[in-house]
Amino acid sequence: MARYTVTSALPYANGPVHIGHLAGVYVPADIYVRYLRKKGHDVLFIGGSDEHGVPITIKARQEGVQPQDIVDKYHGLIKESFKRLGISFDIYSRTTSKTHREMASKIFRTLYDKGAFIEKDSEQYYDREAKQFLADRYITGTCPHCGNENAYGDQCEKCGTSLNATDLINPRSTLSGSAPELRATKHWYLPLDQYEPFLREWILEEHKEWKTNVYGQCKSWLDTGLQPRAVTRDLDWGIPVPVEGAEGKVLYVWFDAPIGYISNTKELCPDTWEKYWKDPDTKLIHFIGKDNIVFHCIIFPAILKAEGSFILPENVPANEFLNLENEKISTSRNWAVWLHEYLDEFPGKEDVLRYVLTANAPETKDNNFTWKDFQDRNNNELVAIYGNFVNRAVVLTHKYFGGKVPVPGTLLPEDLELTGELAVLKSNIESSIENYRFREALKETMNIARMGNKYLTDTEPWKIYKENPERVATVLNLCLQIAANMKVLSEPFLPFSSEKLASILNAPLIAWDDAGKADLLPAGHVLGKPELLFEKIEDEAIEFQLRKLADTKIANEKINYIPAPQKSSIQYEDFSRMDIRIGTILEAVKVPKTGKLMKMTVDTGLDKRTIVSGIAEYFTPEELPGKQVCVLANLEPRVIKGITSQGMILLAEDSDGKLIFVSPENIVRNGSSVS
Ligand code: 2FM
Ligand code: ZN
Repeated sequence: MARYTVTSALPYANGPVHIGHLAGVYVPADIYVRYLRKKGHDVLFIGGSDEHGVPITIKARQEGVQPQDIVDKYHGLIKESFKRLGISFDIYSRTTSKTHREMASKIFRTLYDKGAFIEKDSEQYYDREAKQFLADRYITGTCPHCGNENAYGDQCEKCGTSLNATDLINPRSTLSGSAPELRATKHWYLPLDQYEPFLREWILEEHKEWKTNVYGQCKSWLDTGLQPRAVTRDLDWGIPVPVEGAEGKVLYVWFDAPIGYISNTKELCPDTWEKYWKDPDTKLIHFIGKDNIVFHCIIFPAILKAEGSFILPENVPANEFLNLENEKISTSRNWAVWLHEYLDEFPGKEDVLRYVLTANAPETKDNNFTWKDFQDRNNNELVAIYGNFVNRAVVLTHKYFGGKVPVPGTLLPEDLELTGELAVLKSNIESSIENYRFREALKETMNIARMGNKYLTDTEPWKIYKENPERVATVLNLCLQIAANMKVLSEPFLPFSSEKLASILNAPLIAWDDAGKADLLPAGHVLGKPELLFEKIEDEAIEFQLRKLADTKIANEKINYIPAPQKSSIQYEDFSRMDIRIGTILEAVKVPKTGKLMKMTVDTGLDKRTIVSGIAEYFTPEELPGKQVCVLANLEPRVIKGITSQGMILLAEDSDGKLIFVSPENIVRNGSSVS
């Protein structure tokens, strides 16, 4: 038996959690800890809310409330919805707790006393009216790269460039609207550069087994060279810096948040927490998303190393991101499936979400969630494979053997093959989970049900019962043993269904290590009542979700879209001089070395001609042939990059700034006039 401390990233308590958080962090972490517990290890699963940081103060300001009100609201909502989804934290606490404030202050103070920090003065923007220093997000101004007048002090959201507040032209404070001034302020820095040799050795040499996305990101940070990082901020929300002369300063949120894992462990086990954080035999595992890699693999380990008495993580199995319907999930644009809404709208379907997010987890690359795939996986996998197998086995046993596990007869070679395969699948599931390959582990679990279905279909007990009841007894005994295995082995992934299956089978307690064998239910064991494990999801439920997303898009367009002003009036004759035709794109190739331009051959009905258009960022050449478009056919030809373009394709900009074609609603003849 080993000891594990498993943590999952503390979500910011400034909004609810969504499927991206779940697929990236919480569902895989929960599968892992449920498995470890089943294997009999000593496991603590530590969670909590991250309640400090600038975004929370901004949200509070927007809503006219205190930051504490914001975190109280979302901490409660997040905690409750995790529980409803069966995320089995041993503790879900928060970084505004007393235990955390004490722990974070203590660790900061230890580092301070050891001389682990550098003290440095720097110039930062100060708002004289609001009488405070300004976090980068509290400063807006003109982006020096694209001219956007509303760029933030840390980033221009229009062109995506990362900025320093001092890069902004004409900076303004969002607190008072006044022009801020630069003032000197003192901060404490962790000299990460000094930890580089240790980090290189520890990660690049001793942890070559880490996931390639994690190892690669660490290597790239280390190869670029680490710089000292400020671990304090001028802000009035956070844990006060426990040093004289630091009034008005708080710990940087990324200094205190990971310490939250330690504080929450202490809150859970006030007397024994140290063995989960200081005993070198304990394995510490951090489940996080890819945007948190540097904090968990470089900065937090450097803090722990500097403190000196803590263990370092054994692994940091970070996932990539999940998109929703091919677009980036965005809290501010409300482009998300929110967990609490899902739970309300799909009652009793917690496992369906857990299943889909695991089957499609962004383990090695970004992945995409679509409602159609959600429906298909439920209907074609959970219902048609898992549920169908269990139902057939149980219903047939009720029909032929009065609901009792039949006594098996002589086993045939195919039966022995089946039991052999069961052991192999169980061992595959274990090694996949232990190597953080949860998609693969789930697939192997479903393969047990697939195998059971095939066995039933091949043996056809319903056809042979009359002439060979003994054979049917053997077949159904084996099927029920497979179902009992599914109950045990699917528990980490689908805990609610596993419990339901336990009641259908009236299953006794079965240890994980007894699974993989075909003797889990004794002959004569009385089954429970047959019941469907999963139910089909109808089109209406999916259409409802898609409509919700469509409404979000419309709402976003209304909020964000300021249409260009109308141009000056023209006469009908001006318009009628334009010859707009429907044409079909026949071929498309990107114009080399331009990035933006696509050269297309278009059948305009009048001729087949070449048109160059700036759409290469938005379409691949392969997806264009066959598309009907509107062509301004009588536009004077122009030479673009040495290619004569004969006309122009009409385009519109969608809400994301992506160009899309203006196309006829139905297919029409090429050459037909648009008027
Ligand atoms: O990215 C985030 O949502 C952070 N709140 C994660 C913090 S993880 C840990 F350090 F607490
Ligand atoms: Zn910009």
